[in-house]
Amino acid sequence: MSSVRERLLSTLASQLGNPHGVLGKGVALLLNRGNKTAIASAVDAAAVPSGGNVADIGFGGGAGLPLLLERVGADGVVHGVEISADMLARARSGHTRDIGSGRLRLAEGSLTALPLTDDSLDAAITVNTVYFVPDLAAACTELARVVRPGGRLVIGIGDPDAMAKLPFTSYGFTLRPVPDVIATLEHAGCTVEHQRLSTRPIPHHLLVATPR
Ligand SMILES: C[S@@+](CC[C@H](N)C(=O)[O-])C[C@H]1O[C@@H](n2cnc3c(N)ncnc32)[C@H](O)[C@@H]1O
Repeated sequence: MSSVRERLLSTLASQLGNPHGVLGKGVALLLNRGNKTAIASAVDAAAVPSGGNVADIGFGGGAGLPLLLERVGADGVVHGVEISADMLARARSGHTRDIGSGRLRLAEGSLTALPLTDDSLDAAITVNTVYFVPDLAAACTELARVVRPGGRLVIGIGDPDAMAKLPFTSYGFTLRPVPDVIATLEHAGCTVEHQRLSTRPIPHHLLVATPR
């Protein structure tokens, strides 16, 4: 029989992997606050062009969406892709004007099956998401498919050693060594630059990939 502590940790881990319901509302706020710097740094690293076509995949509480909208400007398009219906609903209600103008397009989808056409993006970010994807190679291949050659694809992850010390990550997170993620991106046809962020309490890594 699982203890109350185990059930709480398992619930938290499952909410982080797919925020939903009443708890999901609080998780969205926590994600936006806790991951603000990592998300903003990923947006910077993505070198988003004005007028560009870009995406935040697994946007969670949605902190990356306004940052990307600002960067692409009036003539660009931001795609927000999520597996969580509740995070999509939250983003829909917070961005009615941008959705109405066509600047923001929200869609249900997964890192391993993106609702985007080949080479359609100038840049994509996905931050704190790949822990929830069992098949990283499939996700990297899919990301490299939708970002055009020469574009930027930024994967942000918490430092795996620091993440392993968090009590909830043993409940379903897949924590991969950074060199493994780099090798998987390279195998998917990208050149990769590794940036380190001294975010607290968890340092992050940005893997800035350019499809060839
Ligand atoms: C820990 S949250 C991170 C949210 C946000 N990117 C951030 O850094 O605050 C993980 C998000 O990834 C989404 N997610 C999980 N698996 C996914 C998948 N296979 N494809 C797309 N999104 C996924 C979850 O629904 C959740 O909103």
